[in-house]
Amino acid sequence: MKVLILKNADEVASLVASELIERIQSFKPTDQKPFLVLGLPTGSTPIPVYKLLVQAYQNKEISFKNVVTFNMDEYKGLAAEHNQSYHYFMQENLFGLIDIPRNQIHILDGMAKDTSAECKAYEEKIASFGGIDIQLAGIGENGHLAFNEPGTSFQSLTHEQKLTENTIEVNSRFFEKKEDVPTSALTIGLKTVFEAKKVIVLATGEKKAEAVYKSVRMPVTENCPASILQEHENSVFVCDEGAGKKLK
Ligand code: PGA
Repeated sequence: MKVLILKNADEVASLVASELIERIQSFKPTDQKPFLVLGLPTGSTPIPVYKLLVQAYQNKEISFKNVVTFNMDEYKGLAAEHNQSYHYFMQENLFGLIDIPRNQIHILDGMAKDTSAECKAYEEKIASFGGIDIQLAGIGENGHLAFNEPGTSFQSLTHEQKLTENTIEVNSRFFEKKEDVPTSALTIGLKTVFEAKKVIVLATGEKKAEAVYKSVRMPVTENCPASILQEHENSVFVCDEGAGKKLK
C-alpha cells in the first residue's frame, strides 16, 4: 500500500483524475478485453475528480465508449429517481455529462425485491468483465469502504448492509431530516474491493484523519474495513494535509 499526502483537495483530485485520464487514453480494446472496468464511489470526496473527468471529455481528451463502470453501493429503498439515490448522484455528476453508453453503467438496484439475487447477479456481472481494473473509493469517518461498516467480514461479497448510527448521522446532511436516511444499503463487499487490480482511496479533510491513520498505520482489523488495503499489492491512499494529519 502506498500513501500520498498532497497539499489540498484540488491536488488530490487533479492527481487522481490525471491517472484515470491516462488509463482511459492508453486503453486499447481487444477481443479478449474490450472494456476498461472502473469501480466508482459516490459522496462529496470524488465530486472534484468527476468534474475533471467531465472537463477532459468536453475537451475531447477522453471518451468513455470503452469504459464499463460498477458503482460501489446504493441505498436500499430509494428509487433511481430519488434525488438522494446514488443513481441520481451519478447521473448528475458524471454519467449524464459524458458519452458512456447506458448499458455499460452498473449500479445496484435499491428497489430490488430479491436483494440476494440482485447482489449475486452484480458479482457475476463484475466477473463477466474480468473484474475491476481500477476501484476508486472514499473512506468513511468510521473507516468504512463503500457501505462495509466496521465488523464486516473481509471475505464479504456484494450484500445488504445495515448502516451504523454514525453513517446515518454523517449522511443525514444530504436529507431533510435524519429519519429520512435509509437504514440499510446494498454494497459491494470487502472481498470485491480487494479483488480489484488497483484501489485508489481518496481522503480529504481533517474529519478523515483518524480513519486514515487507523487504516494505514494500525493493525489490519475488520473493525476498520479500509485497513484490509494494507494487504493489497496495488492500493494507494491519496490524502490532503487534513486527512493525512496524523501520519506525520
Ligand atoms: P464522503 O463519503 O466522500 O461524502 O466523505 C465517503 C464515504 O462515506 O465513503
